[in-house]
Formats: sequence, C-alpha cells, structure tokens
Amino acid sequence: MCGIFGFIGNRSAAPLLVDGLRRLEYRGYDSSGIVVKNGSLQVHKKVGKVSELSKILPDHIEGNMGIAHTRWATHGGVTDFNAHPHLSEDGNIALVHNGIIDNAKGLRKRLQERGFELSSETDSEALVHMISIGIESGQSPLESVRKTLTRITGTWGLCVLFKEHDLIICARNGSPLILGQGEGESFVASDPHALTQHTQNFFFLEDGDMAILTKDRIEISRLEGGISSTSMTVVEDEWGQADMAGFPHFMLKEIHEQPEALRRCIAGRLDMANGSAKLGGLRLQPLRLRTVPHVRLIGCGTALNACNIGRLAIESLARIPAVAHVASEFRYNDPVINPNAIHFAVSQSGETADTLSAVKEIQLKGGDVHGIINVVGSSIARMCAQGVYIHSGPEQAVASTKAFTNMVASLLLFAIKIGRTRTFSREKGQSIIKDFEKIPELMEKYLSNPGPIDEAVELVKNAKSVLFLGRGLSAPVASEGALKLMEIAYIPCLAYPAGEMKHGPIALLEDGSPVVVILPNDKHRQKTIASMHECRARGARIILIHEEGDDEAAEEADVSIPVPPCNYLLSPLLTVVPTQLIAYRVALELGCDVDRPRNLAKSVTVE
Ligand code: G6P
Repeated sequence: MCGIFGFIGNRSAAPLLVDGLRRLEYRGYDSSGIVVKNGSLQVHKKVGKVSELSKILPDHIEGNMGIAHTRWATHGGVTDFNAHPHLSEDGNIALVHNGIIDNAKGLRKRLQERGFELSSETDSEALVHMISIGIESGQSPLESVRKTLTRITGTWGLCVLFKEHDLIICARNGSPLILGQGEGESFVASDPHALTQHTQNFFFLEDGDMAILTKDRIEISRLEGGISSTSMTVVEDEWGQADMAGFPHFMLKEIHEQPEALRRCIAGRLDMANGSAKLGGLRLQPLRLRTVPHVRLIGCGTALNACNIGRLAIESLARIPAVAHVASEFRYNDPVINPNAIHFAVSQSGETADTLSAVKEIQLKGGDVHGIINVVGSSIARMCAQGVYIHSGPEQAVASTKAFTNMVASLLLFAIKIGRTRTFSREKGQSIIKDFEKIPELMEKYLSNPGPIDEAVELVKNAKSVLFLGRGLSAPVASEGALKLMEIAYIPCLAYPAGEMKHGPIALLEDGSPVVVILPNDKHRQKTIASMHECRARGARIILIHEEGDDEAAEEADVSIPVPPCNYLLSPLLTVVPTQLIAYRVALELGCDVDRPRNLAKSVTVE
C-alpha cells in the first residue's frame, strides 16, 4: 500500500529517495513519484513500477532534501497526475500523503470556488492548496500544516516540503510514519524496513503527532499544541537487504525459508520440562488462563485464516469457546467486549488499518488485546504492548507464506499453553512438544521432494475456477490455499469445509473441474474421502494433499501430493506448503507478477 520516504541532509537526495521507494515496493502500489529541492521543487512521477519512474529521471538531480511516494489508488484512477507528490499552484510546496481524507469532496469544492485549479482527482491534493493558503497568509510551515489538519477528517501519514525552508514537516494520524535520525541527516518513512540501513535511531510517530525534520534535529509536537511524548527508540532488529538469495522470486525464497523461520519462532518457546509453551510477551498469569471465558482472534486475509486454525486448536485443547473475526467487520458490528476475555490481533505487518481499528474498539471497551505480529515496533504491536512476535523475518512477496506458518505456530503454542493450564497433563503436553520440535525438519523434508506439483499445475492453470476442500484444521488450510492461488494467479477459487461442499459448490463441478483436497490422517479422514468421492462422481479431477503412506486415499486421486506424517494438530504447518507451491507455479505459468500481484497491497493501511 502507499509508501512514503523522505530525506534531508548533506548527501544527494534523489538516489536515496529512489532506493527508499524500492524498499517499499513490496507493499504493493500502482504509481510512484519524487520531489527534490534544488532552488525550486522538481517533481517527477510516473504510473507503474519504480523502474518506470527511474527511466524518466534525469541522470543527475541536484539537491539534498526531498520526499517520495508509492501510491495505491483510492481516490481517482491510476494516472501520472494522480500520483504523488502534489504541488501547490505556485510550485513552492510539495506534499505526499497516505490515508484517506473523508471530507475531501467538500474541501475540493471550496478550493475550486476560491479559484484553485485542481490538477488531480485525489483527496490529497486539497491539502497542499490549503497549506499554501496558510503560508501566503504568513503562517510558518508547521502552523500552516497544523491549521490544515484541524480542518480535515480522515487519516493521514504525510510529509510536506517547502521551497523557502530547509525542512520537512511530517504528521501522522492513522497511517504509520517513522522518523530516523542519522549523523547530520534525518529520514522519514512509512515502514521501518526502509530506514534500517541508514540508522537505528527511530521515532515511531503516534496518532496526532507532527514533526519538523531538519538535517540536525527532529522536533515532535502535538496537533493540538504542546510537545509530544514520543521518544527515540533504538531498533536493533536489522531486516537486512531485500535480496533474493539466488531464488527467482521472493515468494519462492520465502516458501523455502519456512523451516528456518519456524525454528526462530519456536526457539526457546517449547517448554519440554512442563509439557507447555513459554510466551514471555503475553501478560497472562495461570489464574487468568484458568478463568478466561472465551478467546477472540481478529485478522484479515491470510492472518484471518491463521486465526481460524488458532481458534480450533484453542477450543480443542483448552475446552473454551474461541471465535475468529474478520477485522473489517468487527468494529462496525458494535461487539460486546468481555474485559476478562483474551483477544488476539493477528497481523504480519502490524499496520493493517482494519485490524488496528478492531484493537482500538476492544481497548475502548475495556478489553485486553495481545498482538501476534511479525514487524517489530509496528503500530499494532505498540498499541497492544503485549503479545507474541512471530519472528518470520522480512516478508517481501505480497502473498504471505512464511508469516502464515509462523502465525499458526504462535497460535498453536498459545493453544498448548492454555490447554496445559486448563485441561491436559504434562505427558500429553510433552508429546505435542516433541512433535512440534520435528516440524521444521519435516518441512525441509517435504520441500526437498515436493511431489508432482507440475501435474497439479497442469490441472489448474486453465480452469474456470478451483475448489479447495478440507475439514477441521484443514478447512482454514483450504481457505489459505484458495486465497493464495486467487491472489497471485487471478483464478477464481472457492474454499469450503468438505462436508458443506454438497450444499452448494457441488453445482459448479463439471468434467475436469479441479478440486484440491487437504487430507491429513486425522479424525475427519473418512468423511473427507467421502466428499472427494462425491466430487469425482461429477467428473472432478482431484489434487490430493495427504499423509505419506496413505496409499488407499492416494490411489483415488488424479494427482497425489504426500506430506510427511505428523501430529494432526500440527498438520496445517505441512499441508499448506504444497498449496503455496501450486499457487506460485500456476502464477508463473500464466505469466503473472508473482511477487507483486495486481491491485493487492502487502500492508493495507486504509480501511
Ligand atoms: C492484505 C494482503 C494480504 C494480507 C492481509 C493482512 O490484504 O494483501 O496478503 O494477508 O492484508 O495483512 P497483515 O499484515 O495484517 O497480516
């Protein structure tokens, strides 16, 4: 989703801005632009990838300060005009903005009535003209931005550059913005990942913060006036260069990183002595775990699928009700919040606006929320201030893989911990922990011999639609498989609990329809096989993901993909991997942009 990068210092700004944009590319966007101050403000913007923007940039751009933006269209189509930065009419002020201005329509109308000619269809452009009115009436840069922001409703992460002043003004409300302080230079970005190579000294702006950046100083104040309490954080979590390590795509690299990522996630957390899990970031004492009335898990997309696995595991092991919620629905359904309940906000980026809103709603109603988050120091992680970091490392491909498996692993660890407190013995806990330890190795084993993925690709690549089926813990795995294929190969996919298939989706089946069935060796096996028969009887072609050695089931499949046997509770960590590989290979075959699928964004910071 929209990204921001800005620099002020003694170095040449343009290469830093372009590099910053490249580091934000993984978030998903449709156009990009930069403005550099060199006497005047020079703007360059272009639809498409950052490489398209690079093509139109002059060989050398003088200037030691500038701001840059990757845009994901909300107001107005994908055009060069609508790309940011936006300029004031006199060309003296440039602005980049993430978020949505709710009252933009009225503001644009009033500006037009005052004689302004708007050159884009965006909500953001209104802001730069309002700031210019303030400057012309003698306000300082900070005051002009402050006055403008008090007249708007909506969300913003924004940066403003002024021809007449050596500074950048920044402000945050609902869209992340992080400031970085180097030696004689300052940075701003919407994502800490774009800053870690320059400095470790970060200021994570809070909603309502505003800042003046000069090369030597960062001053943070509040929108309503007064000094902000936001202080510097030293971030040691180096996300490293976004390199492909010899893989053709980030997605494939990240699929193969899963065993290692999972080892990082469970390291030090498997408590063999007690048959439990250690999760130091959870502020939950045993008494609380014993008396909690229910657990609610909230997320979007892939995170929601992980929540659904988590809720089944928690309910099964701890014998308390657990529910997963679509984050974008949660807040608006005026949920009843029990202050004794446990809530989890699950998010890779920790910035998803829908999930963030749900966290705010729960906290507003006196509820307690824990984060299950990948990005350290992200908005949701800071807002919850308690929870579990999943330690996947940087995930660059828009389609999530290693974050999914680590979200699932973290939730399973919690399920074991709460289950052990409430229902089962040390011996049972130890047996699960023993099985858990083996999973990274089993993942490696599978990845070294992933089975006939090519044959599955042949069945799927020209299909009108693909049906994914599973039961129990495998139903959310089916959803995740369907989401992945749909996201990156643009094939309509439907995921159903296998038993529900006959109540609707069966109508779609015709000769040759591909159906992906997730069949671990669990208590649902026979029932799932029965659903598979029902599909076959209608001419469907079955791609079966099953436990190695289950020859009886394999014989009935058109394509049989075995995964190593494991404890059924942990099976999603293995059965999901073939679905990731199928999606990846189908997208490649169809010539799709695997890492940056159309219209999607990695981190969706608007509701
Ligand atoms: C977007 C992405 C999905 C992702 C979802 C949640 O929709 O395209 O791939 O699963 O956001 O992201 P989060 O960062 O909260 O896990």
